[in-house]
Amino acid sequence: MGSGQPVSVAVDTREVYDGLAALYEPVAIAVFVTVVVALVWVVRRAGDGGRDEHRALEIAYASGLALVAAVLIVFTFRATDRENARAAGPAEVVRVTAGKWKWRFEHASGRVETDVLTVPAGAEVEFRATSVDVIHAFWIPDLKFQRQLIPGQTTTFRLTFERPGIAVSGACSFYCGLEHARMRFLVDVRSRADYERWAAS
Ligand code: CUA
Repeated sequence: MGSGQPVSVAVDTREVYDGLAALYEPVAIAVFVTVVVALVWVVRRAGDGGRDEHRALEIAYASGLALVAAVLIVFTFRATDRENARAAGPAEVVRVTAGKWKWRFEHASGRVETDVLTVPAGAEVEFRATSVDVIHAFWIPDLKFQRQLIPGQTTTFRLTFERPGIAVSGACSFYCGLEHARMRFLVDVRSRADYERWAAS
């Protein structure tokens, strides 16, 4: 998928997430129903005093679940790969450093900010993110996007923010200690010109 599209267009992370959710939800329901039915059946059999082995059934059940897990893993990795595919073309680079318990955003212009992430609207923003201590996760609920940040590794991803405004917010989505809940930030999306002016000041 996507081979015919221009590579400079960042993947719509919401679309990727929704595609995966459309796969996970029916699977989750099917597994839940199967487990409940199996449980009810087992309890009723036990009530009847019956306790017999069903080797073939057990093997079928276990392999069915393993197959479901394998399919989900493959689709999840493929979706992540789509998001990770490095788009060519210019992008505004922001270096993200997560540490207990705050964010640090460093822009190409040298500007550094902490509680707010300022980005240009309608442009690709390339994040190069890492952590200085434990695992944190960069999460922007509005974009249905999150990535774990591992100490010593740089995770690179691109996002685009469509409209100017500060309605979007982000947070750390991986429990990282006592003040994990404090790791929130606002996303200040500005028009290109406004962003340039801000970055240069
Ligand atoms: Cu950082 Cu949770």
